[in-house]
Amino acid sequence: MLNSIRNFISERIKKQVRYLRMINKFNQGFLEGQKLPPTIITNVNNSRVYKNPLEIYFDSHKEGRGVWKWEHYFEIYHSHFAKFIDREVNVLEVGIYSGGSLDMWKEYFGQKCRIYGVDIEEACKSYENDAVKIFVGDQADRNFWKLFKSETPNLDIIIDDGGHMPHQQIVTLEEMLPHLRPGGVYLCEDVHGISNEFAAYIYGFSQNLNACQAKQYVDENETGLANITTQFQSMIHSVHLYPFVTVIEKLENPVNKFIAPKRGTQWQPFL
Ligand SMILES: C[S@@+](CC[C@H](N)C(=O)[O-])C[C@H]1O[C@@H](n2cnc3c(N)ncnc32)[C@H](O)[C@@H]1O
Repeated sequence: MLNSIRNFISERIKKQVRYLRMINKFNQGFLEGQKLPPTIITNVNNSRVYKNPLEIYFDSHKEGRGVWKWEHYFEIYHSHFAKFIDREVNVLEVGIYSGGSLDMWKEYFGQKCRIYGVDIEEACKSYENDAVKIFVGDQADRNFWKLFKSETPNLDIIIDDGGHMPHQQIVTLEEMLPHLRPGGVYLCEDVHGISNEFAAYIYGFSQNLNACQAKQYVDENETGLANITTQFQSMIHSVHLYPFVTVIEKLENPVNKFIAPKRGTQWQPFL
């Protein structure tokens, strides 16, 4: 009995020490980032030689329904969304405002896409049409998402451009990430500020990518290391951080292990 209490306390202390070390490294990395030397900026007006279809759409959109995006988002969108163009894709955007971004997604993904929009403002219901379904509700309300999920298929793309408060972004992610299909992309916009709590949540979330209990394996043909994936690793492909944007990609085909085979016949003796 005494031994199990001792073990319990020692495990708790070890865990606390690990957390303190992590906070320390978090701080070290943060300070290092602030010390990076200045670079020479030649492209002062941010103009880009190659423009992707979203940028072209946005630049030529001079009147009609308003769309409001940070310019550097277009490159991020295109690098994660291009694979869905002209496919039967189900897209959700949280935050509709003046309806222009719904039109932009429709134009970009093509005729086969189905768009879902969510906004807290009743006025946004007016943007509903044959290709676009609008839900009015609060993204921070888990009951709203339960209702939403009961009325929609699993989604390929989720874009959170709603209220931008960390608690709203966290509820939306927790409720909606499980509703994203394998191969799907979750993109959260406007993660602003250095001590942002959504960003802190994502750093914690991403730690799960590195879970590792690798073991030696020997096959008839090769040797190496094998790591049985956790539930998280079998589902989440990657987490990407950009200025103000977080992207999470799900794996198209879930994996049950990561392997590191050794190929070749000549090896140094020191490992
Ligand atoms: C930045 S605007 C969206 C811009 C639009 N996506 C675009 O690209 O032009 C943010 C929108 O989020 C909506 N919003 C704010 N809080 C919300 C909440 N709690 N739930 C759902 N929508 C919310 C606002 O009403 C507003 O229309």
